[in-house]
Parts: sequence; structure tokens; C-alpha cells
Amino acid sequence: MQFSALQLAWMQELGIDKPWIPGGAAPAVIQPQARVAVNPAPDVAQRPPTPQPAAGSLGAGSFVQAGAIAHAQLGGAAQRSATANASSTKKSSDVAAEKPLDTVAAAAQAATLEELAATIAQCNACGLCKEREQVVVGQGVMQPAIMVVGEGPGDQEDRQGLPFVGRSGMLLDNMLSSIGSSRTTDVYAANIVKCRPPGNRNPRPAEITACRPFLMRQIELVRPFSILALGRFAAQTLLGAEAQLTEMRDKPYSVEQAGLNIPVVVSYHPAYLLRRPADKAAAWRDLQRARLISKGL
Ligand code: URA
Repeated sequence: MQFSALQLAWMQELGIDKPWIPGGAAPAVIQPQARVAVNPAPDVAQRPPTPQPAAGSLGAGSFVQAGAIAHAQLGGAAQRSATANASSTKKSSDVAAEKPLDTVAAAAQAATLEELAATIAQCNACGLCKEREQVVVGQGVMQPAIMVVGEGPGDQEDRQGLPFVGRSGMLLDNMLSSIGSSRTTDVYAANIVKCRPPGNRNPRPAEITACRPFLMRQIELVRPFSILALGRFAAQTLLGAEAQLTEMRDKPYSVEQAGLNIPVVVSYHPAYLLRRPADKAAAWRDLQRARLISKGL
């Protein structure tokens, strides 16, 4: 059995130095230097684009640049200027003092990802806006092969205004790289809650309920070919289920959104994998499944 360089790199990440090979063939020894550049986008089946009033650079596979459509990525300085342009810049405390936003109506009104991001930046529907530094909307390409959905921003994400930039994010990027994917080529990353829960606690049901319309509208606008739900909260929120993660893994799911039927693969959250590396092998299988599904296989 032949392993590609990407597979070897990922197995190395999993701590597998000598993969077991069925059929008695000699094991392939993974060289420590088998580090691999992230590469080509998988061929994804064609899907008609969402009508976008202010489409700009939002074509298939276009990378959402802070400069091009700043609201969509909302990172660091881009976010601050985006927020300033969207309406008046408000401090978290000012936002929290106002009447709570109707997130269902507000999300529905956003015609573009840019508008959605500006709305989220002004949201006060749950208490999370009081303590967050920045909202973290999403990052990556439009119409991605895979939309990764995590739980919520952590400390680093809150500071930078971007999803998955801390330790979990590094592992996530390595995992994506092992299947030839990245946020610059064919992946979009987002979370179920857009503001950091203080102290990295779990998001509360009321916070998830308030933020869910933003995620669902984001899915409509991003139009992914598949969704990778990382961790129990992401899986439960997307699928409206209450089951534990282990019960949801390795099963076929989909979400119906705006006439699209988007397959969902449930897997472990990278933060969990950092604590329990033994489960990386199962996560590798989930990723392979997501990759095949995103190619329509
Ligand atoms: N964990 C998540 O679920 N999302 C992030 O953006 C970072 C860590």
C-alpha cells in the first residue's frame, strides 16, 4: 500500500510512525522530515452561486480577503474599520445596554456575508458581547469544499478576530493540510457562537440559540459543499440533536438550508484531540470521509 506525502504527514501528526498495513506488506516508516506543503484544492462539483447583490469578489473559490470584503473575515484592524463603516462603532458595553437584537430577523435581512458580519458586530442578543474583545465571524473561501464549524472563539481568536488561530487552530490546519485543504484554497471556518464565552467556558443554550440564526445565514451565503462539525456543541446545534458526540460520529447527516442539502460530517474538536491524541486516528477517518463527500464521492 502506498501512502502519499500528505497522508504520511498526517499519520505522523497522529503519532503513527509505522502504519499497520493489512496483508503483511512491509510497514512504511514515516520520516520525521515528511512535512508537506499545503496544496491543491480538491475538484469540487459545480454548484450555482447564491445570488449576491454586492457580489464583488465572492465567486467560487475566492478567498475572503480582509481588504476586499473586510466584514466577511472581520479580523483585527479589518474588523475595526469594517465595524466603523457599517454604522457607528460601539463599545461592547454600549451594545449590551440596548434592546436585545432579534437575531432571526437581523440574520434574514443580511443580503451578503459582509452585511451579516456588520450585523453580528452590533449584536447584543446574549450577554457575550459584554466581555468579548472582537466578534469572530469566519475566515476562508466562498463555496468551499468544506465549511468547518467549531464551538466558539477562545482567547487568541477573541484578540485577533479570526477563528481557530490558537493551538486548536494549528492542529486543525495540519489536519486540513493532510487532505490537501486549507482556508486559503477550499475551506471556510466559523463557529456556532461569534463571541468568546468568558474563561473559555462552554457556550450556554441561550447563547447558542441567539447566535444560531447567524450561523445558518452564514451557511446560506457561504454555500459549502460539505460541513465538518467539530465537537458536540457544533454537531448538536447544526443537527438539532441532543446526542453525545460519540453517538453522532460516523453517521451520515445533512442540513437543509435555502434549498441546499449539505452533507454534515461530525468529528472530534481539535481541543479534545490535543487532550486525547489517541482519538486522532478516528478524526483522520472523519476527515477522509469529509473530503470524499465534498468531491461528491
Ligand atoms: N475552538 C473553536 O471551537 N473555535 C475557535 O475558533 C477556536 C477554538
